[in-house]
Amino acid sequence: MKLEINNAVSFLAEGKVNEYEAKVMAAQKALEEGTCKGNDFLGWLHLPSSITPEFINEINATAKTLQDNCDAIVVAGIGGSYLGAKAVIAALDDNFSWLKKSNAPRILFAGNNISEDYLSELIDYLKGVKFGVINISKSGTTTETAITFRLMKKMCEEQMGKDVAKKVIVAITDAKKGAARTCADKEGYKTFVIPDNVGGRFSVLTPVGLLPIACAGFDICQLVKGAQDMEKECDVNAPFCSNPAAVYAATRNAVYAEGKKIEILVNYQPKLHYVSEWWKQLYGESEGKDGKGIFPASVDFSTDLHSMGQWIQDGERTIFETVISIDKPNHDLAVPTDAENLDGLNFLAGKHIDEVNHKAELGTCLAHIDGGVPNIRISIPKLDEYALGQLIYFFEKGCGISGLLIDVNPFNQPGVEAYKKNMFALLGKPGYEAETEAIQKRIS
Ligand code: PA5
Repeated sequence: MKLEINNAVSFLAEGKVNEYEAKVMAAQKALEEGTCKGNDFLGWLHLPSSITPEFINEINATAKTLQDNCDAIVVAGIGGSYLGAKAVIAALDDNFSWLKKSNAPRILFAGNNISEDYLSELIDYLKGVKFGVINISKSGTTTETAITFRLMKKMCEEQMGKDVAKKVIVAITDAKKGAARTCADKEGYKTFVIPDNVGGRFSVLTPVGLLPIACAGFDICQLVKGAQDMEKECDVNAPFCSNPAAVYAATRNAVYAEGKKIEILVNYQPKLHYVSEWWKQLYGESEGKDGKGIFPASVDFSTDLHSMGQWIQDGERTIFETVISIDKPNHDLAVPTDAENLDGLNFLAGKHIDEVNHKAELGTCLAHIDGGVPNIRISIPKLDEYALGQLIYFFEKGCGISGLLIDVNPFNQPGVEAYKKNMFALLGKPGYEAETEAIQKRIS
């Protein structure tokens, strides 16, 4: 993985990024020594290097049981209990996998919305299908996930029989507390623990991400290896300029300080769409508090050049871009020659589609720089498990440092409780009687 910041530095006064060195180093030291805000949630920091081959084997063995017994696996979870697995699977999967034959079971995500139509259509699809369920919830009480799991458990037991259901339902939750734990212990499901000190959005390298990814048939060993290597590269003792997470955190905060309040994560491969969704949760939930924080947005190019491209080129100048670029595609396809050349495309004949894509990237980058948009570029040699592991750890470390640079607690999310409180009050959840009364007065 390579990080290039020249096209962002050129928007700043000389030496601005390096001015952050001392603060970034202090933030890293605070993370390392556990003296920072949110220090009870630092389990992600050395998570990759703590993963053992035995642990990987256990995950792979559980994935094999699910694969052997199921044609579909429903992964129930939301937020950090969903986006990491979704991002990695979508990035590695064939763009048209659901239309092609495969030996791996279909991985279906649910529990990440409260849509009656979504759940009904899922149930409709699952009729007659051999399926298992991975129920993921750290708290074990998240409403979206719990409703979905109740429906899936019932259907799985009815369709597969109670004994098989016990084999193909797996819970990933707290070691001791929460409804998901109580249910799993009572039913005798296989369980994995989400460590207390790893928050949801930092949990993709725990079983939360690893089990669904392994079930989808991808190499979690390589994913973890990529993260382990990046953990070393971003070590607290690495020099500032050769620590990509440190330089990324410094650069994005330097441009933020100049009024660039929105960071747009850009990709040129549709498969990276959910990596952006994962990244938005990671940075949005970590930094957006106390009236501060860069707003994380994302676009898929070149698709969105035909929609958001206008705004990015010409709208309010409060944005900067971080581009994830892939050096080489996993396929080999060139533009064919056409004797008639009716479409006038023969100037591209023989060129790889990816060459056109890279020219679109370079042309866009230059145009956006001309339009006043600083550009950070992250490139990976190819899209595979190893590179994704690197990206995951790089972004996590960059996020931890960045949050501390703006002096917020990057590891809590008090803001997400507000909607839950209102929803429970409106639904009349036991224990919310006073809130129910107050909210009814407010809306009547
Ligand atoms: O990052 C977070 O902590 C959140 O997004 C949670 O992952 C999300 O709310 C789901 O919580 P839980 O795993 O407790 O069901």
